[in-house]
Amino acid sequence: MIFIGPPGSGKGTQAKRLSERFGVPHISTGDMLREAIAEGTELGRQAAPIMAEGKLVSDDLMIGIIKDRLARPDAAPGFILDGFPRTLVQAEKLDTIVGNDGEPLRVLQLLVPDDAIVRRITLRRTCSSCGAIYHLENNPPASDSVCDRCGAEVIARADDNEEAVRKRLEAFHRQTLPVATFYKAKSLLREVDGIGPVDEVFERIEKSLA
Ligand code: AP5
Repeated sequence: MIFIGPPGSGKGTQAKRLSERFGVPHISTGDMLREAIAEGTELGRQAAPIMAEGKLVSDDLMIGIIKDRLARPDAAPGFILDGFPRTLVQAEKLDTIVGNDGEPLRVLQLLVPDDAIVRRITLRRTCSSCGAIYHLENNPPASDSVCDRCGAEVIARADDNEEAVRKRLEAFHRQTLPVATFYKAKSLLREVDGIGPVDEVFERIEKSLA
């Protein structure tokens, strides 16, 4: 399954829940890149300035990462992709990676208007260790800056500032919305309203998958 949606639309929040519900891995290309940055790898070194600016990392790099990740045994029964594909080139390549012999992809687009996005993102906090997602107003950690789940530090992402968010939104409209159109033409796209409490959005997603 693939999640498409603008930055801050709730892809990560909902994908984590679905991953627990269906017992398949949540594969977030954003999380993978942030791990590479934290580990100081060559990939991380290349991706860090691009991400901080709110631009997209190159298709070649991203396709290589996803190809390797989907080849791991835990992805064989299924997977939830969050953040990939983000361009038409990536979508076309994904078709060749997953082939035609498995279950058809399900593609879910979370609909959230741009004006709700900036507030969601600038108030987001993320656990530096387990990746749990918080929001200072809607879902704050019980104790300031400490993750409820693992006790690690809860921080703001480097690209969660207003300037980078606006660039990420621009990239979404220009490069990722055509991906939704690509899947719509194949009758694989389900659109879900992403506004409202997290539990309600999750119920809508479950209904759309039934
Ligand atoms: P990535 O990490 O994928 O970021 P993104 O797409 O911008 O999405 P976000 O993680 O910001 O938001 P989300 O939709 O997951 O929302 P969340 O659930 O956290 O990518 C980062 C960067 O990596 C890119 O800019 C690019 O540079 C690079 N990259 C990654 N993949 C790439 C690719 N394939 N190709 C090229 N480059 C790539 O929720 C947001 C906030 O809202 C949270 O605080 C949450 O608590 C809150 N919230 C969630 N749901 C609700 C709700 N229903 N109501 C109110 N608040 C809510």
